[in-house]
Amino acid sequence: MKNFEFYNPTRIVFGEGKIAELNKLVPKEAKVLILFGGESARKTGTLDEVEKALGNRQIGLFGGIAANPRYETLIKAVDKIHQEGYDYLLAVGGGSVIDGTKFVAAAANFSGDSWDILTSGGEKVNTALPFGTVLTLPATGSEMNKNAVITREATHSKRAFMHDTVYPQFSILDPVKTFTLPPRQISNGVIDAFVHVMEQYLTYPANAPVQDVFAEGLLKTLIDIGPKALANPHDYDTRASLMWTATLALNGLIGVGVPQDWSTHMLGHEITALYGLDHAQTLAIVLPSMLLEKRPQKQAKLVQYAQQVWGIHEGSEEQQAIRAIELTREFFERMNVKTRFSDYNLNQDVIEPLVESLIKNGMAALGEHHDITPEISRRIYIASL
Ligand code: NZQ
Ligand code: ZN
Repeated sequence: MKNFEFYNPTRIVFGEGKIAELNKLVPKEAKVLILFGGESARKTGTLDEVEKALGNRQIGLFGGIAANPRYETLIKAVDKIHQEGYDYLLAVGGGSVIDGTKFVAAAANFSGDSWDILTSGGEKVNTALPFGTVLTLPATGSEMNKNAVITREATHSKRAFMHDTVYPQFSILDPVKTFTLPPRQISNGVIDAFVHVMEQYLTYPANAPVQDVFAEGLLKTLIDIGPKALANPHDYDTRASLMWTATLALNGLIGVGVPQDWSTHMLGHEITALYGLDHAQTLAIVLPSMLLEKRPQKQAKLVQYAQQVWGIHEGSEEQQAIRAIELTREFFERMNVKTRFSDYNLNQDVIEPLVESLIKNGMAALGEHHDITPEISRRIYIASL
């Protein structure tokens, strides 16, 4: 196991009805800006519930943070904070709203060009406004991590940053809030969480048995509950498991002391930035081809994955690895997320723009061995047609 430091200060408040606890969780004297997405938070009644729970605190609203949150939108929230003097933020929504709020929290205290927060990957951040979240979509883990992914519309750039000051102070996870999600978002959430685990697990053995078993448990849980979450939208226990599994998939715990990959995400971000596919759709396209391309380097972990997650014990190690990759693709398809560019009406014309974009964004040495060059990324994109 590699050396590591683990720090995660986010308080999780889990269960039905827990939005009422906002009154205890948000400082009494805070002037709170509530950030949300399109219309879902208002339509579902969650926004009303949140406002009620905040009692007589001074509040303001900032809506319109769309999926794949835009820099161009978020800087308007920063202006509002400077003009109206908010000192606490509350994100109500999914990963996009929470990521957007992290950026706003950091940008409100940033001097200079706030896009530098993204280009520096967060290194230039020193402080951020405190904030909490009310999660309405289990998927990204953003509710319990220090990452955010922001898109700059003008340049089609989708960039990430991370910083210790943007861990949410608390996150409220009420599984009932997921009942109103369209099936597509449940599918997306399951795939995103699944690939988060794979990025931290499917590399090479690192003498980290407990991280491995945690990761395998999360994967097996997602394979089990994913189809059930689609079939029974009001099954509280399934939604509760999904919510907690997605949080654990990317709250840092399973990634400590082990090599991490993240190349599927980086290749996927370019697809969203250029062609607008949902984040999870891009992961479903890239992951199977990525695993096939890197099979020689990932062989030991692929066999472990085949045996421990999919229960494959027949055949040679090579056959087991290939079968496990096939079953992964079948699982994504069973979750109604298509796994080929052609399924989204994209053809070989997309390949060169994607590779150029990777190069432009400095993504030229990806993967746990930093050996996924633009040439190899091109092969992976081509294999995904
Ligand atoms: O905009 P509204 O009307 O609110 O609708 C949203 C949105 O259209 C809707 N929705 C959310 N909760 C709902 C609901 N509809 C009905 N009922 C509810 N309870 O769902 C749509 C998608 O929401 P979004 O927040 O975009 O989805 P998700 O949570 O999947 O977030 C995706 C974003 O997170 C980033 C992705 O790149 C993408 O930008 N990621 C963030 C990560 C992180 N911070 O660690 C890691 C991930 O790998 C990922 O990159
Ligand atoms: Zn993701």
